Amino acid sequence: MAGADTCSIYVFDAYGTLFDVHSAVRRHSEALGPDAEKLSQIWRYKQLEYSWIRALTGRYVDFWTLTERALDFAFERVPGADRSKREILLGAYHELDAFEEVRSVLKALKENGAQLAILSNGTPDMLQAAVSKNDLDGMFDHILSADEVRSYKTQSVVYDLAMTAFRCFPEAISFQSSNRWDVAGATAYGFRTVWINRTGDLDEYRDLSPVAQFKDLNGLLTL
Ligand code: 2OP
Repeated sequence: MAGADTCSIYVFDAYGTLFDVHSAVRRHSEALGPDAEKLSQIWRYKQLEYSWIRALTGRYVDFWTLTERALDFAFERVPGADRSKREILLGAYHELDAFEEVRSVLKALKENGAQLAILSNGTPDMLQAAVSKNDLDGMFDHILSADEVRSYKTQSVVYDLAMTAFRCFPEAISFQSSNRWDVAGATAYGFRTVWINRTGDLDEYRDLSPVAQFKDLNGLLTL
């Protein structure tokens, strides 16, 4: 368990880290057919690509709209998937499932005196819906959305939101993400980072390494 010499401010990425982005398609995979998983992968990847390009070009469009556009692209790419499920899938994405250990780990960190926050590209509305759906209300000191600064990770203006919220230096924050690119961005920014490598991905960005890598959030309780 985290002692006095370790971080007591834990900032979490949302999508893929706390909430399972593939749970929306999984809930309807039977109706979507054999290409359901492919649809989900393309949906997620395009959503991220759109956010990176929007941030780089300074042409902000909110994350919910990007999520809708990415799903439309995925349906084009996977013509076998039933397009009439569009609204149902978007509804499910609004209320994604949390990974199973999330609640117990957050609770343990909190009981140990840690301060907790979400820092995500998601809109405030998306984040609040996912938090409430998973009964995590009251767990976080701050729910920080990139929408506030109309940009996306890995732009430093987004990571700045955590600094402003907690009034601390970057190295005082432990930032957890399952997205290796986000870990790289947060490491470059100066956070102490932990990679939640849920899918056993190959390491990348070796010059921007996390201090630790775990297969799920339970690892945080061993630091
Ligand atoms: C986030 O929650 C997109 O997973 C990324 O910010």
